[in-house]
Amino acid sequence: MRIHVADHPLIAHKLTALRDETTDSPTFRRLADELVTLLAYEATRDVRVDEVTVTTPVAEAKGTKLASPKPLVVPILRAGLGMLDGMMRLLPTAEVGFLGMVRNEDTLEASTYAERLPDDLSGRQCYVLDPMLATGGTLAAAIRFLVDRGADHITAICLLSAPEGCDRLEKELDGLDIPVTVVTAAMDEKLNEKGYIVPGLGDAGDRLYG
Ligand code: PRP
Repeated sequence: MRIHVADHPLIAHKLTALRDETTDSPTFRRLADELVTLLAYEATRDVRVDEVTVTTPVAEAKGTKLASPKPLVVPILRAGLGMLDGMMRLLPTAEVGFLGMVRNEDTLEASTYAERLPDDLSGRQCYVLDPMLATGGTLAAAIRFLVDRGADHITAICLLSAPEGCDRLEKELDGLDIPVTVVTAAMDEKLNEKGYIVPGLGDAGDRLYG
């Protein structure tokens, strides 16, 4: 598994505003949307393309187009939904599948309550959207779900990550023979006793949707 912490002043600027507890929901949604587009640019560096030739008004030019099958974008409900538009801005022809997962706030274990994904993901590149990688339980379960369906390349985009969650993901995905990358705007310090990322930005779902 590879962790890529995006190092860019605009990403840091938008993330700082997201962290600020005085940022209201409409502003939080807009900033999250913009931040995801910047992270998506980093995250799609490995997107599969085919070589093509186009005819310009002057001559023929070699270029690329997205390969088929198109990538699958998977927002994890509920908070991942706030990342979908920002992602689709860069990959407008991608297919979208949905996973509804919720973390039990006492046990911190994740469970799946909704699933709308293609049955067969053989040979598909998948982009998972989840703002917070905290204990890692949610993302580990989501990745397993996609791998069980045949996905062979997975990139997760997370606004914020905690070292504990990355360690767990590393352990749970040990032995998986497909590339998994996490692209995140920041690696925070730790989790608190409630499983919240510190310093974090609070509960992303609540800040997006109240
Ligand atoms: C939050 C967050 C992640 C998950 C991360 O979702 O959006 O999906 O927790 O926690 P973990 O890494 O410890 O598993 P939550 O369960 O609060 O649901 P929501 O998106 O509906 O608010």
